[in-house]
Amino acid sequence: MNLPNMLDAKVRGKSKVQYLENESFVSKEFQGKKYFIRTYGCQMNVHDSEEIVAVVENLGFTGTSVMEEADLVVLNTCAIRENAHDKVFGYLGRLKHLKREKPELLVAIGGCMPQQSSVVDEILKKHPYVDIVFGTHNINELGRMILESKHKQEIQVYSIEGNVYENVLYHRDSKITAWVNIMYGCDKFCTYCIVPFTRGKQRSRKMSQILNEVRDLKSQGYQEITLLGQNVNAYGKDLEEEISFATLLKEVSKIGIPRVRFVTSHPWDFTDEMIDVIAKCDNVMPYIHLPLQSGSSRILKLMGRRYTKSEYLELYRKMKEQIPGVAITTDIIVGFPGETEEDFQDTLDVVKSCEYDGAFTFIFSPREGTPASKMKDDTPSGVKEERLHRLNEMVNSYSNQKNQEYVGKVVSVLIQGVSEKDPNKVYGYTETMKLVNVVAAKDSIGKIIPVLITEAKSFSLDGEMKELVAI
Ligand code: 5AD
Ligand code: SF4
Repeated sequence: MNLPNMLDAKVRGKSKVQYLENESFVSKEFQGKKYFIRTYGCQMNVHDSEEIVAVVENLGFTGTSVMEEADLVVLNTCAIRENAHDKVFGYLGRLKHLKREKPELLVAIGGCMPQQSSVVDEILKKHPYVDIVFGTHNINELGRMILESKHKQEIQVYSIEGNVYENVLYHRDSKITAWVNIMYGCDKFCTYCIVPFTRGKQRSRKMSQILNEVRDLKSQGYQEITLLGQNVNAYGKDLEEEISFATLLKEVSKIGIPRVRFVTSHPWDFTDEMIDVIAKCDNVMPYIHLPLQSGSSRILKLMGRRYTKSEYLELYRKMKEQIPGVAITTDIIVGFPGETEEDFQDTLDVVKSCEYDGAFTFIFSPREGTPASKMKDDTPSGVKEERLHRLNEMVNSYSNQKNQEYVGKVVSVLIQGVSEKDPNKVYGYTETMKLVNVVAAKDSIGKIIPVLITEAKSFSLDGEMKELVAI
């Protein structure tokens, strides 16, 4: 048993990151058995689930979308806000009943939540029927843990700074778009954020390994890849031979996958060279997610964000000027400890200047062990909710406005599947990451096609395929 420790998780030692080969654990032990997986949180977690699926399928399990049919249930969890935590414990309640009816059911909890010692304590005390608890550094051990959990409860959560595993097997959900990890962990320690604790220190993968993976995806016919990291702009700063994200992006672009994207960027590390690469490489998509968090320089300082309101606006202006047609989205937190109405007005002011294509907005959620959770916070929750409401009204009106600008234009859309809203339509994304429901034949799935936008809604566009249109 290895239990998490938040103090160990905070350590950023000088020890070298170990680059290790992933060993796949293959067994026929669970042939004929079914697994059900539920994923919470960010793209990083979604991609981790693709690794988890490869691990359990290597043991003989096949997938089911009906939890009650499963012999193994895996919850891959997120710790970023309290509500994510509440949802998982709510779900565990359902599993408790299921386990009573079906005692041989295996229940596994992994991902970011078990990296917090309080969560593992709660599982041990209130949910002792959970068979397997694994952390973000332990996915490569999951195969062995599942086999051994038949005999005893398995808990493996390392709070180490982290290693890098190569040759990881993924069962990718899509044959059209793929995630590619370029780095793990985060060293930024924004004062509100749990991620540097749950995911360890920043570890970049070697460029040669990333390029090999991208070449392999190209040969499999992938149309789009997204380079993944908590803070992609800091890529390479921790490598022995330092290399910049701009260089990596340029090299990835040369491999020639039609669309290349990346998430997430931190404004502090965003260089002019990066802007230049995005502007010049045709297959690097003109879409940037650039978290603001707050528009108040005073709050940004308390958040440890390392930029001011005016520096953010300056970077934003450069991106808009230099990258033709770029769409920019953001993340904003309201109600950070001590945020005044004046601070909040600064946030609204930045939203007004930037006219974002979209924004994810959150009320500050104190996370145990982070500096902000200990800061004095006397803003009543009603005031925070009211600020969130005002912010959302503004954000939605700009994203609606941006969507309206597409009506009557022909844009290229990578078609990804049958539309959820209408089985007679297909859906896909524009270069700028707008969701479009399209009237087009099903054989357009997997292709980039020209689409005339006919209608704009708040969160999506409608369109029809245009034959023979030059775009
Ligand atoms: N409370 C509220 N929102 C948070 N985020 C990160 N930590 C917290 C927190 N403690 C938001 C940030 C981040 C996004 C992924 O989640 O806006 O960019
Ligand atoms: Fe992703 Fe952070 Fe949530 Fe972990 S805590 S799943 S890194 S958003």
